[in-house]
Amino acid sequence: MNYFITTPIYYTNDKPHIGHAYTTISCDIISRYNKLLNKNVLFLTGTDEHGQKVEKAAKDSKIDPKQFVDKLSINFEKLVTFLDCDADDFIRTTEERHIIAAQSFWNKLLKNDQIYLSDYEGWYSVRDEAFYQESELVNINGKLQTKLGAPVDLIKEESYFFKLSNYEERLINFYEKNPNIISPKSRYNEVLSFIKNGLKDLSISRTTFKWGVQVPNNPKHVMYVWIDALCNYLTAIDYPNTESQKFKNYWPATHIVGKDILRFHAVYWPAFLMAADLEPPKKIFAHGWWTNEGQKISKSLGNVIDPYLIVQEFGLDQIRYFLFSEVPFGNDGDFSKKAISKRVNADLSNNYGNLIQRILSFIVNNCNSSIKPSFDFTEDDKNLLNNFSDKYKNYLNYMNNFQIDRAIKSVMELLSNTNAYVDSQAPWSLKKTNHQRMNVVLFIILNIIIKSTIMLIPIIPSSTSKVLSYFNIQKKLIGFQNFEDLVDYEITVNKPKPIFPRIDE
Ligand code: MSP
Repeated sequence: MNYFITTPIYYTNDKPHIGHAYTTISCDIISRYNKLLNKNVLFLTGTDEHGQKVEKAAKDSKIDPKQFVDKLSINFEKLVTFLDCDADDFIRTTEERHIIAAQSFWNKLLKNDQIYLSDYEGWYSVRDEAFYQESELVNINGKLQTKLGAPVDLIKEESYFFKLSNYEERLINFYEKNPNIISPKSRYNEVLSFIKNGLKDLSISRTTFKWGVQVPNNPKHVMYVWIDALCNYLTAIDYPNTESQKFKNYWPATHIVGKDILRFHAVYWPAFLMAADLEPPKKIFAHGWWTNEGQKISKSLGNVIDPYLIVQEFGLDQIRYFLFSEVPFGNDGDFSKKAISKRVNADLSNNYGNLIQRILSFIVNNCNSSIKPSFDFTEDDKNLLNNFSDKYKNYLNYMNNFQIDRAIKSVMELLSNTNAYVDSQAPWSLKKTNHQRMNVVLFIILNIIIKSTIMLIPIIPSSTSKVLSYFNIQKKLIGFQNFEDLVDYEITVNKPKPIFPRIDE
């Protein structure tokens, strides 16, 4: 089975911050999960390098825009590896392959009679790279701005328009027939009511600056940055060659986006795609926004969180784990150092780390580092194994529905139950009284540790890889095929090192 997942592409007007890291890690989690399901995954990320906002940032730095984006794009590309994100492609909208794809897409819209030339007069926010109706703006001290405080300019220029108003009915029908395409549900309702409020034709070209993909056959115009940017998802799978194997395998895609850019992905993008005779997206998931210790994250407040620094302070897997266990994916969350320490200590150091540490050390010290398979189970054993099956089923369900925090919680509950089982079965006492029974207990615990670790791979890939290396585990076992079967060979273990040292709270 094929699976195509995308991050939004990031504006190269500044360096990456925690919000960008969050979106990319979320896609990595879902991508790794689908890879463990043995799907043929394509995970795409990249940078959005055109438009007025980027051009302005280059001008402010007195650097030529191309040189400017070359420099800034590298920071985003490096961040992907730094965050241990297993992306398959990194696209830049200034690449030749993308310019060809975007212009071909434009030509297709033109050929299908979906574009016309006219004049745009209205409000534009460079910060959001978005057109606004006056009714969407608020008046603060005699000046109009967006509800989220972005400044707007009144612009009047010749512009190409996309016939978005023709897509009201089609989009409503499409979403009413496929209500699960947009998640969470509240976002679906929001999009549907936006469409039902009426769609106006959309300006899709600009003439007052040059930093963009040129409109074919009219060099006065550059494409509106959003039509250019959205096309990246097609570029990466060989568009305009819709006959290519890559295109056939991977379209339509799953898009993960922040709630701020849902409208572009859930209204404009499907309409563009329908207009170009292509299938609309398979899935659009909108995640929430992070605040920093209760405050909106913004450059002017000086509270932007640098992903490099925060990872340096707490560790990468600790941050990945925090971001996705602390807050339901889809909700807003508050970033606080105290919350990171608490969460990491409770779940990773105590619940997960200690279990591994005490069991593996015990086996190394008392069982010659190996445990033979034993299937002579008591009621207590069966209870724990049934609990494992239940938690695993929940985990799959949650992951399939992008409920990452709940999936993690299922694993953590399983680990708590396993810790309780260790305490009640007390293998250290069994060592003195019943060796055979001790072996069964340890065999079950090892199985659960291995399986919980595999379930945690998408969230904390590098730590789980260390844990798995203690088990000399067969590679073919790392995945969800035949996952419920217990290991049927002797498990040898290595002496573990502490993986999640406690953080000083
Ligand atoms: N270039 C457009 C996307 C084009 S996709 C065809 C863009 N870029 S962005 O760099 O401004 O934002 C990219 C992502 O970062 C968005 O999904 C946005 O929601 C996310 N975040 C930016 N700040 C954020 C937080 N404070 N918290 C969580 N995510 C946030 O939009």
